[in-house]
Amino acid sequence: MNAALPDRAAPRMASGQSHPHESAAAQIAGAATYIDDIPEVRGTLYAAPVLSRVAHGKLLGVDTQAALALPGVHAVLLAADVPGSKMLAAFAGDEPVFAIDSVQHVGQVIGLVVADSVMLARRAARLVAPQMEVLPAVLDVRAARQAQSFVLPPVTVRRGDAAQALASAPHTLHGTLEVGGQEHFYLEGQVAYALPQEQNQWLIHSSTQHPGEVQHWVAHALGLDNHAVTVQCRRMGGGFGGKETQAGHLAVWAALAAQKVMRPVKLRLDRDDDFLITGKRHPFSYDYRVGFDNSGRLCGLQLQMLVHCGFSADLSGPVADRAIFHADNAYFLRDVEITSYRCKLNTQSHTAFRGFGGPQGMIVTEAILGDIARHLGLDPLTVRQRNLYSDEIGEVQRNTTHYGMQVEGNILQPLISKLAQTANYSQRREAIASWNQNSAVVKRGIALTPVKFGISFTATLFNQAGALVHVYLDGSVTVNHGGTEMGQGLHTKVAQIVADELGVPLASVQVSASDTSKIPNASATAASAGTDLNGRAAQFAARHVRDNLAAFVAGLDGVGAGAVEFAAGQVITPQATRSFKDVVALAYANRIQLWSDGFYRTPKIHYDKTTLTGRPFYYFAYGAACTEVAIDTLTGENRVLRVDILHDVGRSINPAIDIGQIEGGFVQGMGWLTSEELVWNEQGLLTTHAPSTYKIPTAGDVPGHFKVDLWPEANPEDNVFGSKAVGEPPFMLAISVFEALRDAVAQARGDKQAVKLDAPATAERVLAALS
Ligand code: MTE
Ligand code: HPA
Ligand code: MOS
Repeated sequence: MNAALPDRAAPRMASGQSHPHESAAAQIAGAATYIDDIPEVRGTLYAAPVLSRVAHGKLLGVDTQAALALPGVHAVLLAADVPGSKMLAAFAGDEPVFAIDSVQHVGQVIGLVVADSVMLARRAARLVAPQMEVLPAVLDVRAARQAQSFVLPPVTVRRGDAAQALASAPHTLHGTLEVGGQEHFYLEGQVAYALPQEQNQWLIHSSTQHPGEVQHWVAHALGLDNHAVTVQCRRMGGGFGGKETQAGHLAVWAALAAQKVMRPVKLRLDRDDDFLITGKRHPFSYDYRVGFDNSGRLCGLQLQMLVHCGFSADLSGPVADRAIFHADNAYFLRDVEITSYRCKLNTQSHTAFRGFGGPQGMIVTEAILGDIARHLGLDPLTVRQRNLYSDEIGEVQRNTTHYGMQVEGNILQPLISKLAQTANYSQRREAIASWNQNSAVVKRGIALTPVKFGISFTATLFNQAGALVHVYLDGSVTVNHGGTEMGQGLHTKVAQIVADELGVPLASVQVSASDTSKIPNASATAASAGTDLNGRAAQFAARHVRDNLAAFVAGLDGVGAGAVEFAAGQVITPQATRSFKDVVALAYANRIQLWSDGFYRTPKIHYDKTTLTGRPFYYFAYGAACTEVAIDTLTGENRVLRVDILHDVGRSINPAIDIGQIEGGFVQGMGWLTSEELVWNEQGLLTTHAPSTYKIPTAGDVPGHFKVDLWPEANPEDNVFGSKAVGEPPFMLAISVFEALRDAVAQARGDKQAVKLDAPATAERVLAALS
């Protein structure tokens, strides 16, 4: 199935190898710079936010006197201090920079204190006194739906006649499922450093996945043209979607403060404030009715998704859309009707988080399939396999999604069979059943679940990228591209691609910081498409330089340009072999251009935004995980014992980085579904706003047996070096943990009832599900 590579036949030395992450050594040594490590310019001041303590209220006034009276406090900024638009340049235009005449959630930013030190700014912020008339708050998603409290209108996608299919189905089940949100818990919290430059120009260091958006937002708030603002980001200490839009708020606040005092201002949020201010993964609630036949095949599905968006739209529209697009996960939904309600609640505005609604789309269908299997007394894996998309010819074609995209290059049947075999699924399922017979308190469960994840931004226009490749006189190379580095290894992969395109050693290629003055209008580094987009743009830029050099050398040697090869730091023609460095020096002396740009846009994709039909994705990434868990039936505590993964990254550009992404994504998904719990109290305060009460997985939670294998085939679509995107898809492999826990609960109960277990499956919830 190896697609013929459109890339010229340069031997690939850098790509396909497990090179270390470009910053690994510096990060270990503490020598890698994050925003808060940038040497501060003399005169730098520090900001701290003033937060709303009520979930919904009319803002009558703000008393800043006590704060301003503290020595060392320079200013308190409020909405009135915003010279440009008082609304953020978010796409729905529904978020104020600072609360204007109302507050919409506990933690909303009302203003900013600027002071000589971080601690002083934070202390002063607590002295600012907003006067508030408290209003009733919407804190429950079902109440929001009842009250038609929406950030965006509901969306329905349907195929066939679900009601009719349910009426004639041999079996039906109905139920609800609640799935919690997730805090990003990036190790580096949100931070921005704004520096006024000469002639009303602004330099912003921002820990952001989307420098171009930050530039646009800052310019909008300052009332300036975009070209007055430059945004830079060398790296983030993690983003996970949490810095796709929400880094912009900090940059805007820091820039406004810097403009007010005309000095550099840094804003780094305290972790508790970061929890209270910024949005999280969207919690989802589901109501469903499903019909199926004796073999467990789905006939009809009616599904309602209640999406807890928080107080504004942010990215909720595309997140909720992606949840609809992934409600099928890997399965053919014959007659189906999905309605998605984008509910407005008085909480933080929820945002992108690894998977971007995909996990919330898939999990409900996986839970349903598990319950169908138990209802029929079948092995859940058998039921899953029977429902997979396939090219079988029957009365209906089973290879088209509910949104009208044909599923091509589907490797799930062989991939699942292979994983079931190597993980010994069937034997272990039997062994677990007999183990459970003899174990009174601890019970085990197992599940094997697939993932099919669509790659591309659903908004077609974002699927474009640019890059610059500079070759210097000594033959060393600098690449700049529109993507950002957040630990995922994007810069390493882009450097590998450029090294191979020019046939130079990886060590000759450097990637420089993301910078809006180099690549304009770049999309967010998101949707897992960082390497697909920026890697290709960089490859094209390098190819332009190589073409210049090839034409030049061909002229020297009197051969065709196609006969010139670039490999292992050498430029080879049938006549001569020269070092790359010598060719560069010669070319320069002959006034040949040694740098170029590159631009890429993803082919084939299109879709209709109103009906959500078409081909939103260039291709799918596939994978499957087999997970075994144990639960303590007296306490509800649980552990993941063994995980086997087989995942499809196409032809890997860097296997070590890809395996790291798969492991990290899986464990992060495990945290979402087991221990990470967001609890808002009746006043709308997020009470789990610190690591003391919000529990991400630790090294001790990583399963003792954790085996990750890569599927060996290349991407059948023409993607850079035959690779596939890897950032998000493995997150959803952790749904196997949830299904294994539900299996353990079912085995402990020994009945065929549907398991009523919501996520995260904390000890309390597992215990409740057992009784
Ligand atoms: N890996 C690390 N170490 N840190 C991160 O913040 N973000 C994830 C994923 N892997 C993330 C990560 C998310 S949400 C996405 S969309 C992709 O990386 C983005 O990068 P890519 O498109 O280059 O894969
Ligand atoms: N994925 C991730 N981020 C996004 C998307 C998407 O599909 N659309 C807009 N931002
Ligand atoms: Mo990732 S949620 O697309 O930043």
